Parts: sequence; structure tokens; C-alpha cells
Amino acid sequence: MTSRIEQLERLRREALLGGGEKRIADQHRKGKLTARERLDLLLDEGSFEETDMFARHRSNRFGLEKNRPLGDGVITGTGKIHGRTVCVFSQDFTVFGGSLSEVYAEKICKIMDLAVKIGAPVIGLNDSGGARIQEGVVSLGGYADIFLRNTLASGVVPQISAILGPCAGGAVYSPAITDFIFMVKNTSHMFVTGPNVVKTVTHEEITFEELGGANSHASRSGVAHFACENEIDCLRKIRKMTTFLPSNNRSAAPKIPTADRPDRLCERLDTIVPSNPNKPYDIREVIREIADEGDFLEVHADYAPNIIVGFITLDGRSVGVVANQPASMAGVLDINASVKGARFVRFCDCFNIPLAVFEDVPGFLPGSDQEWRGIIRHGAKLLYAFCEATVPKMTVITRKAYGGAYDVMNSKHIRGDYNIAWPTAEIAVMGAKGAVEILFNKEIKSAANPEIRAAELEAEYNEQFCNPYEAAERGYIDDVIYPRETRCRLIRALHILETKRDENPWKKHGNIPL
Ligand code: HXC
Repeated sequence: MTSRIEQLERLRREALLGGGEKRIADQHRKGKLTARERLDLLLDEGSFEETDMFARHRSNRFGLEKNRPLGDGVITGTGKIHGRTVCVFSQDFTVFGGSLSEVYAEKICKIMDLAVKIGAPVIGLNDSGGARIQEGVVSLGGYADIFLRNTLASGVVPQISAILGPCAGGAVYSPAITDFIFMVKNTSHMFVTGPNVVKTVTHEEITFEELGGANSHASRSGVAHFACENEIDCLRKIRKMTTFLPSNNRSAAPKIPTADRPDRLCERLDTIVPSNPNKPYDIREVIREIADEGDFLEVHADYAPNIIVGFITLDGRSVGVVANQPASMAGVLDINASVKGARFVRFCDCFNIPLAVFEDVPGFLPGSDQEWRGIIRHGAKLLYAFCEATVPKMTVITRKAYGGAYDVMNSKHIRGDYNIAWPTAEIAVMGAKGAVEILFNKEIKSAANPEIRAAELEAEYNEQFCNPYEAAERGYIDDVIYPRETRCRLIRALHILETKRDENPWKKHGNIPL
């Protein structure tokens, strides 16, 4: 018996060492943590339950049969974050460069299948040289098995990916299907083809960091939602994000206890909108002002800054915020903003997270560049996402709600449940200047003083159309409120909407304009 226990202890010790001390030191030298150290930081202390520690690869090519490390390069299991169960896999670069084999893929698939069965989020910590070259097509099959599970689990359990090393070739498509991607500056890279191939094919010289680093993906491509300073920052942010999420699509996000009173007034909001409609203000200040304890987890902060998305809680309940940002390109909707907003709305709708929309939008961005790149198709994504969403949907119009963008930004007509406006709201087909130019072109030109006449007509238009009362008269908005009341009004609406039930017609799935 003793010898059996000793054998178990020996095997466990061996498994815990992964690729061995030298490779662990190499990993640290590169500024990276090991797969196990990462899990220690991600999960509540002592909560990790490992699965398949004793799995070994079955390959006998290229002498691999003589090197069969325990665990085969990926650590899998369950653990807890703030007391709630999550399923995890952590790729171990110290074992064959974290490369993916048949057995390695089986381990990941097994933990993903468990996640769907028990309704727990999947968090993948990626650090891998890609397909294990010695295993050939079997490894490619393993990737495909994971892609299929990523897709089937999409909208069933939240899936979060951290990229903590290389992630190249087809391997990028597993994180790409997941809901959120976290990268770390300088140590993580994602690309379909690396700098060497790029140089051969296109003669372009580019570094790893420029091509596929955290900043590039967080700001240029939009592939990454977070560019973190280091791995500790990254793993902490993932823990934080999970607090806003339910474990699966059949449950609600947990209520977060707060000392912030639901009836707190936000006096500062009464004066936050400048009297000049062309002057910007930072919508994030509005969001922080109304959020419990001013806490706002912004998602995709560096991408399409003309729209802001992220999570807050209101009276302890998780809420997804989508807000036009007047401080960036006047809050106009362009292709990137539409796609960013649409994906976030769909995430919240999948996972029963109510939406709060803050609207100050002059319209869609004009120009041949946007038209030829498909603003019609991409803008339609945001419209489609709001239309199909059945979670509680609230909208606050703070200033401009012009043209098609008025309809798109969760208007009453597309099933907004609680639509309110500040007295500064301007709900109209377009702004005064543009409208007057179109309607009164001849009259202005023939006036004794065209400038004065144009100003008079603009004032008249503003008086008649650029206010919230035309829309309120028709019930397109439910109320015009004092800005200071925004927090308490949204919280009251949220409580009322807690029992909301709404359904879309039966279908296999819709056909969102991709
Ligand atoms: C087997 C691999 C491996 C791989 C790395 N290793 N990648 N073993 N298959 N794909 C091994 C190395 O041989 C080495 O073993 C150890 O891991 C560490 O690798 P290094 O090269 O020393 O590390 P580093 O200098 O940090 O470079 C990391 C790297 C590089 C950039 C990831 O290893 C690399 O370019 N690897 C190959 C990447 C690749 O082309 N993968 C296939 C992509 S195609 P020893 O024993 O010497 O320490 C793909 C298709 C997926 O993934 C398709 C899905 C549909």
C-alpha cells in the first residue's frame, strides 16, 4: 500500500513540474508565468480540481514515444472564482511548446463538455506553439473538435480567452469564437501568419508586437477586448469580469452587494451636457456617475472609442452599457462602432444581462470609405442586435438622437422597454444646420442678409424639432426626466422589468448581416 501511495506522490510531483525546472526558468525569463502559477492567480485559493493529470500522448513518431510527459502540455479542471464554479484549461508552454496533440485536445474537449453540462463558464489560458507538428493531421482534427465545441457552447456558457504567449495559425480561431479575449502587452501574440511568412509573401517587414501584439489587436483589429499590462493584471481583470456574468444562459448574474443607495441623486448630471450642441463631454462620466459606487468595467476600451460598451451594476444587478461617446468623433456611428456595439448587445442578450443605452448620436458617418467598406451592412448589425434582443432594454437620450441612428439605438419602435430623455435631448431627423440648408436653401440665398436669415431659421427649427417633447407627445419616449434622477429611474425600471418575458418567433437561427 505504502509503495502505491509513494508511486502516486511521485507521479503527482512529476506532473506538477511540467516540462521541468529548466523550461520553467526559461518561461520566467521571458516574463511569463507557468500554466499552474496562472491558475493559482485566476482561481480562489485551494479551489482547483484537476482532471486528467495522468494523461499522456499516444504518438510514436519522431521518437516521441520516449518522451511522454504527464498531462501532455495542458492543465485542465474546475475551480471557483468568487465562490462560483468555472471550467479551465491552461496551456503549458514548457511541454512541447504547449503544442496541441490528440490527447491534449481530448482533455480540453472533455472540460468544455463538462462546462456545458453543469452550466459553468469556460476560461482558456492560451500559450502554445500551435498544432503539435509530430502528430500531423490528428492535431488539426483536435483543433476542429475544439472549434466545434466553442461554437456549440456559444450563448450557452460564457467563454473567456486569455492569450499569454504565442497563438498562431488556425489556433487563433478558438479564442476568436469565444466571447472575450484578454491579451498581455509584449508577451502575447496572435496572428494567422507570423512576421516571417508576411515578409515572404508581401515583402512587408513587421515585428511580432506590431503585427499581433496586444495593442494592435485591442486598438486596430478589435480582436482583443483587453490589452493588459502584465499577466497578473490580466488574470485579475478576468476575475473581475466574471462578477458581472451569469454562469450560463439559464441563470441571472449574481447580485453584488452594494452600499450605494438606489435613490441616490446625481446632481452633477444636471449640468454635464454643454449648452453648445457641438461641444463634447465624456459619456463615461455619466456612466460612472450612475453606476453603483462609480464602478464601470469598460470592454473594448481602445477600439472604436466613439461607442463605449461595458458592465456596471445598478442596485447590485449586472447591466450592459452601450453608449455613444460625444468626446470621440462626436459619437458618430461608423463601421467599427456598429460591429463593436452589436457584438456586445448580443452577448448581453445571450446571457440575460439587461441593457442600458446612453444616446447622443449625430447619425452614421458619411463618406465613400465607409460606404464602400459596407456601413450599410455593418450598421445593420447593430440595428439587428437591438431588434432581436429580448432582455430588459432601457434607453436614456442625453442629447442628439438624429436620423436612422435614433431608430437603431434601442428606440421604442424596436422594443425598447423604458425610453427616457433628458430635457437637453434633440430627437429629430437631423440637426438644425443641415435641415435648414436643405429646406430653405432658396429663401436663404435670396435674403438681404443670408447669414442672419439662416440663423433665424435654425433657431425656429431648434425650437420646433430639437427637443424631446415631440417624441414624448407620441409616446416614443416614456418620460422626460431631470438628469439627476437617471440612476434612480433606471433602477426602478430595472426592478419592474425583472419579470419581463419576451420571445422572438421560432426559427432555426436568424440571418444577421455578417
Ligand atoms: C511541436 C513545438 C511546437 C509545435 C514549439 N515546439 N512549437 N513542438 N510542435 N508546433 C517545441 C520546440 O521544438 C521546443 O522544443 C519548445 O517547443 C519550445 O520552442 P522554442 O522554439 O524553443 O520557443 P520560442 O523560441 O519561444 O518560440 C516559440 C514559437 C516557435 C514562436 C511558438 O516554437 C514556433 O514558431 N513554433 C512553431 C509554430 C508553428 O508553426 N506551429 C504550427 C502552426 S500551424 P525543445 O525540445 O527544443 O525545447 C497550426 C495549425 C493549427 O497551429 C490549425 C488549426 C486548424
